[in-house]
Amino acid sequence: MVSRTQIGIVGAGPAGLMLGHLLHLRGIDSVIVEDRGRDHVIDRVRAGVLEQGTVDLMREVGVGTRLDVEGLRHEGIYIAFGGERYRIDLARLTGGRAITVYGQNEVVKDLIAAREHTGRPLHFDASDVRVHDIASDHPRLSFCAAGQPHDVRCDFIAGCDGFHGVCRPTVPTGHLRIYEREYPFAWLGILANAAPSSEELVYSLHERGFALFSMRSPSVTRLYLQCATDEDIAQWPDERIWNELRVRLSTHDGWAPHEGQITQKGVTPMRSFVAEPMQYGSLFLAGDAAHIVPPTGAKGLNLAVADVWRLACAMGEYYESGSRGLLEGYSSAALRRTWRAQRFSWWMTSMLHRSDDPNPFDHKRQLAELENLVSSEAAMASLAENYVGLPLG
Ligand code: FAD
Ligand code: PHB
Repeated sequence: MVSRTQIGIVGAGPAGLMLGHLLHLRGIDSVIVEDRGRDHVIDRVRAGVLEQGTVDLMREVGVGTRLDVEGLRHEGIYIAFGGERYRIDLARLTGGRAITVYGQNEVVKDLIAAREHTGRPLHFDASDVRVHDIASDHPRLSFCAAGQPHDVRCDFIAGCDGFHGVCRPTVPTGHLRIYEREYPFAWLGILANAAPSSEELVYSLHERGFALFSMRSPSVTRLYLQCATDEDIAQWPDERIWNELRVRLSTHDGWAPHEGQITQKGVTPMRSFVAEPMQYGSLFLAGDAAHIVPPTGAKGLNLAVADVWRLACAMGEYYESGSRGLLEGYSSAALRRTWRAQRFSWWMTSMLHRSDDPNPFDHKRQLAELENLVSSEAAMASLAENYVGLPLG
């Protein structure tokens, strides 16, 4: 089946779905194609922290109704080390900005509902997804969905297909420069049916490694432990996980996470990755397709949203005035924000994770870094500013 659209969007994660929605509001047509099933896309357990700018945007574009009811606004976070918890007052340090805990699953669910409401195409379970002629100004998107082959002629293609997608590898060799760092540790994450025992997140550095207390709702706790990159989840029965979390998170004031039935377990690798530029011909990369940050700064999802907001503005300008100015500036502007998020995520990661280096210098340096952070208004303000997120524009 041959058809035509303005923007071909590959991937129905937060980047692709939000882009489709922003374009729709500007009257721009798109086709979204996703190679996984609807339930899989919704059920994947991933990010949970929305920056202030992401929340503001979701409200502004009409997908904030459930977020306003179910999202948990947090005006602070805790940093724990040496058995003490220190609160960083995000709102006071940033003139009232905050983060909101609202699972990526919920964001995706809201965006799928908004898309379906518009009646514009969204194909799940597509196979053989490919992009063609991206060096030209008449790129094509081909795939097979519901047993039917599709060939979609587009003005532009948005590669929103995540780190393992097909778009970035389509760019001919030599046109992308890759900057990458892998970390010698990973996160073991769990979801548990337990009421959160703290109203705010707790990031902890312990001699046994990093641990993070987070949540998804008033009855679900989300927790993470630093582990080995090749960690075998089978070696982690529930009791071992709770023991380790108790040891790494409990503080002298008697605080510890509540425990409950574990409903999900998984290991997340840690990587910093940037592909430059984020454009080749008619193909624009956005979100994890172009960059990955380690999750310690809670930036991945927010960065994806910031990219597509910028891309939608640029495409809007093109269709309104014929000007390619913003489209041409997309990559460099998106990369500036990306590198700020890379710096912050790397800094949070290196401050809070135990290194395997037998030289104790690094551990002492980390403790000094943490002490500097919790005793300096300027250092706390810098963390707060980055954590709640830089302005979108
Ligand atoms: P994705 O969400 O990856 O979406 C890309 C979409 O493209 C997917 O639906 C995929 O199925 C689809 N796709 C892939 N290939 C094709 C193809 N060939 N054809 C069609 N569609 C395709 N961030 C945080 O801030 N905190 C966290 O705790 C956190 N945990 C994470 C855990 C895991 C396991 C992963 C992988 C990521 C995590 N992240 C976390 C990062 C965050 O979830 C991502 O930054 C965010 O999902 C980026 O959105 P995206 O739309 O760019 O990419
Ligand atoms: C989460 O709740 O999943 C979460 C929170 C903060 C992070 C990473 C993940 O830095």
